[in-house]
Amino acid sequence: MKRILVTGSSRGLGLEFVKQLLEKGNQIIACNRNPLKYPDLLELKNKFEDKLVLIDLDVSSKDSIDNAFTLISKEIDGLDILINNAGIRFGGEEKYCDELGKLYKEDFGKIFTVNSVAPVLIVEKFLPLIKNGRDPVIVNISSTSGSIGRRSRKGGGYSYSASKAALNMITKALSVDLHEEGITVVSIHPGWVKTTMEYTENAPLTTYESIKGMRKVIDTLSIEKTGKFFDWEGNDLPW
Ligand SMILES: NC(=O)c1ccc[n+]([C@@H]2O[C@H](COP(=O)([O-])OP(=O)(O)OC[C@H]3O[C@@H](n4cnc5c(N)ncnc54)[C@H](OP(=O)(O)O)[C@@H]3O)[C@@H](O)[C@H]2O)c1
Repeated sequence: MKRILVTGSSRGLGLEFVKQLLEKGNQIIACNRNPLKYPDLLELKNKFEDKLVLIDLDVSSKDSIDNAFTLISKEIDGLDILINNAGIRFGGEEKYCDELGKLYKEDFGKIFTVNSVAPVLIVEKFLPLIKNGRDPVIVNISSTSGSIGRRSRKGGGYSYSASKAALNMITKALSVDLHEEGITVVSIHPGWVKTTMEYTENAPLTTYESIKGMRKVIDTLSIEKTGKFFDWEGNDLPW
């Protein structure tokens, strides 16, 4: 049994992580905004009771991260896996504002706050628990959109792609800084998966398939693989 924290657990990939990891017998700290609002999470709480802890966490708020840490520290004394999954595609009401000619400075700020800054602030805050984990692993859910080496096609996505490229640098930097502590840090691209995120309506993968694949990848992680960027099937991706 591992003690695993998942951010953005209300829907999409985060919710499926929580489901599958609970079914495998792990203890899950599911973090999202207003968790009691989500029937799927409440149903899981009924089924798994003491194995599932629901925590209110807005990753864009430092106060909320601090508060979540205080609550979680009362539940567990070590964290084996941290999955930084919460993410956003757009920062505002307008869906198509991430293209050249339509960019909003404010949206960049919002997207970077959630996709890039929050993961490193969460790691920083939770480090005492992570250091107490057994073979601890930090997984940052990234995207091939953030792969600079793969960028060849047109199509905007400036803020989202850049936020995931920044997240990848954070993965690499953390992997170097935390290597001596034996903490493994990786980025994983979940594949193109049908979720509630924009632009995934025609995606070929289900959340079940993606999470099943990513679980296998996570199961095989060790310090030798720290600082790498994988896809959901375990293939290496270029930064
Ligand atoms: N789906 C894909 O094809 C795909 C591809 C590549 C990468 N990804 C990445 O995979 C991750 C999960 O995406 P998804 O497809 O499952 O998206 P999703 O269905 O839109 O779910 C996003 C999750 O992030 C949470 N979230 C957003 N802002 C938050 C905040 N400020 N504080 C706390 N939670 C917040 C949402 O919670 P609320 O309910 O509170 O909004 C929700 O639980 C993201 O990092 C995304 O970039 C997805």
